Amino acid sequence: MDQMISIIGTGQTPFGEHWDKSLHDLIADAVQSAIEAARCTPLDIDMVIVANMIGERLSGQAHLGALTASLLPHHPPALRVEAACASGAVAMHTACALLESGKAQTVLVVGAEKMTDATNEEVAAALMGAADSEKDAPAGITFPGLFGLVAQRYMHEYNLSREDLSCVSALHHRNAVGNPYAQFRKEISAEEISASALIADPLRLLDCSPVSDGAAACILSTKFEGPVRIAASQLATDAVSLLDRPSITSFRATKTATERALAEANIKLQDLQAIELHDCFSIAAVISVEDMGLAEPGTGVQLYKKPDGNLVLNPSGGLKACGHPVAATGVKQVIEISKWLQNNNLRWGATHNFGGTGATCGMHILERHNG
Ligand code: COA
Repeated sequence: MDQMISIIGTGQTPFGEHWDKSLHDLIADAVQSAIEAARCTPLDIDMVIVANMIGERLSGQAHLGALTASLLPHHPPALRVEAACASGAVAMHTACALLESGKAQTVLVVGAEKMTDATNEEVAAALMGAADSEKDAPAGITFPGLFGLVAQRYMHEYNLSREDLSCVSALHHRNAVGNPYAQFRKEISAEEISASALIADPLRLLDCSPVSDGAAACILSTKFEGPVRIAASQLATDAVSLLDRPSITSFRATKTATERALAEANIKLQDLQAIELHDCFSIAAVISVEDMGLAEPGTGVQLYKKPDGNLVLNPSGGLKACGHPVAATGVKQVIEISKWLQNNNLRWGATHNFGGTGATCGMHILERHNG
C-alpha cells in the first residue's frame, strides 16, 4: 500500500433472523453504529460503497448506493458492488483503490443482505446466481450440492473421515459462544455434527453456513488515523464453473490472492496471528487453509483437530456459527480482525472471503499500530 489506509469506525448488526427489519433497516443500523464509533463526522465521508448480492431478488431493491448515501446529510457519491459471497471483500478492495488513487479520503463501506424472509427454494435459487447459469444450474444443483461434490472428491483423494470433518464446525461454534453478533452462540460436539440431518452427501446441516440477515459497516480513511490499518488488499479470480477447473479440491484464486497479499504487506504467512476465513461449508475451511499455505494438501483438518496456539482461525465463529448474510460477510471479517488485533494486542491478521465455489477471492491483511 502506498497510502496509509486506517480503519476509523466500524459497526454491525447481529447476524441472524431479523424478521422485524428490512434490508433498509439493517443498513441504517450498521451505518449508524459505524458513524457513532468513528473518528470523523458524517460530513467527512466522501464516498459510499455498498456490497449486496441478492437485494433485487429477495427484497425487490437495487440501487443501494444512493439509498445508503441518503443516510448521510450531504448525499456523497456512491456505488454498489456485487461478486456473490465475495461482494464484501470486493467493496473493501474498491474502497482501498479509491483511497490509494486520491479520489477519496474517507470511504464508508457497507455490506448487507436480507435473506430469511424468503423461502428456502427462493434463497437457493438466488444464491445459484453465483454459479455458472449455463454449465452448473441446468443440472438442478444448489450450493450445498456443489460443495457436497467437492467434499466427496476431497474425501476420495485424501481419505478424510466424516468424524474429522466434524471438527471444523465444532471449533467454529466454540469460537462463536462469546460473540454477541453471532447467529448460533452454542457449542456443538463433533458427534452432533456427524449425526445432523443430511443436506448434500456427505455434508450435513451442521457443516453448512446458515441463511442469515445482517449488515456490517466500516469507515476507511487516509485523512484520519485509527489503531488498525489495511496493509494489503488483493483480489483474484478463477473459472466460475467447477467443470472448468483442473482440480476441485483446491481453489486457485485463494492461492493467488494470498501470495499477492503477503507480498503487498511484505510479511510471511507465519506472521499472521488471526484469520477470518470463508467456511461457507466445513470442507471449504479445510481447502482454504491448504490453499493459503497453512497446511499441506490433504492435511488441513489437522489445524482444526489440534489448533495452532499461535494462530486463531475464525475468532467470530466464521460463516458457520456467526452467520452468513452473504455480502455482509467480507466486511464483517475485517471488523472482526480489527477488533481481535486490538483486544489481544496482536499485530497481523487477515481476512479471506470468496464467492461461488472460490471463483472470486479477496484477501485483506490488517496491521495494528499505535494510531
Ligand atoms: N447451522 C446450525 N443450525 C442451523 C443451520 C445451520 N446452517 N441451519 C438451520 N439451523 C437450525 C435452525 O435454527 C433450526 O433450529 P430450530 O429448529 O431450533 O429453530 C433447525 O436448524 C432447522 O432449520 P431450518 O431452517 O428448517 O433448516 P433448513 O433445512 O431449512 O436449512 C440449510 C438448512 C443447510 C439447507 C440452509 O441453512 C442452507 O441452505 N445453508 C447454506 C446457505 C448457502 O448456500 N450459502 C451460500 C454459501 S456459498
